[in-house]
Amino acid sequence: MKTILEITSQPSVGVIEMLVILVFLLAIIIGLQGIEISMELKRMKKKMAEAVDEVPGRKTTWLDLFRRQGIQMDSFVEGHNYDGIQEYDNAPPAWFNWIFFVTIGVAFCYMMYYHVLKIGDLQVAEYEKQVKEAAPILAKVQERAIFLADQPRLTDESSLVLGKSIFKTNCVTCHGQNAEGIAGPNLTDDYWLHGGHYNEIFKTIFNGVEQKGMPVWKRTLKPDDIRAVASYVYTLHGTNPPNPKAPQGDKMLYN
Ligand code: HEC
Repeated sequence: MKTILEITSQPSVGVIEMLVILVFLLAIIIGLQGIEISMELKRMKKKMAEAVDEVPGRKTTWLDLFRRQGIQMDSFVEGHNYDGIQEYDNAPPAWFNWIFFVTIGVAFCYMMYYHVLKIGDLQVAEYEKQVKEAAPILAKVQERAIFLADQPRLTDESSLVLGKSIFKTNCVTCHGQNAEGIAGPNLTDDYWLHGGHYNEIFKTIFNGVEQKGMPVWKRTLKPDDIRAVASYVYTLHGTNPPNPKAPQGDKMLYN
């Protein structure tokens, strides 16, 4: 966890400088865009005077950028002639302008919120906050698991039904529909790599055998669910499913 924090932790210098440059660039872009828009508006005004929905003499305003419907002009952009393909001198439609200006607005708000006024938490701060919140919960889970690891297996019907459903959801891809073994070992025979006593099964599931391909289930299953599925696995011994995988590990003496 520490290494993750180190890798993603923010650089403490340079951020402000970068922001100043960003704001500066943004100002230039908006300024240039403003000039272009006013030029465009003048041009539009001239052309719109000829268009049907324009009252001649009406003053063209900024708002026209958001109103107009993409009027078809019949003149071409000068100099844009490629292999005889020409480009109409049409104004961008209103929806395009809307998107463009809303994007600028959102970017500005985002920058103010996260970087200038620092109201919102950035990713690292948010992550650290969540880790802090999770610590007592994790400690409780750990405590519960340590307690359960040495408890006897569950034998009541409803726990075994729960265990079976957890097995069907999480384990059959590697251990097979009937635990006969595929990538993971057969869980029904007398042979065990990590021990076939109930408490050993619990610990194998809880800690996994990551380098051999058995996932670490304490990351995804609750300790009580691991108890249920371990209890269910224990009951599978001797069920002799079809197509069993060859035995792996040491023979356990059942009595
Ligand atoms: C991604 C494949 C995979 C999944 C999913 C998987 N396992 Fe495994 N499991 C393995 C492998 C591979 C081994 C053998 C580990 C070794 O060689 O040490 C193993 C070993 C085991 C063992 C020990 C067997 C022995 O011989 O000691 C048990 C018990 C077990 N798994 C139960 C489960 C349970 C319960 C689930 C579901 C919650 C599950 N496994 C899900 C791959 C998987």
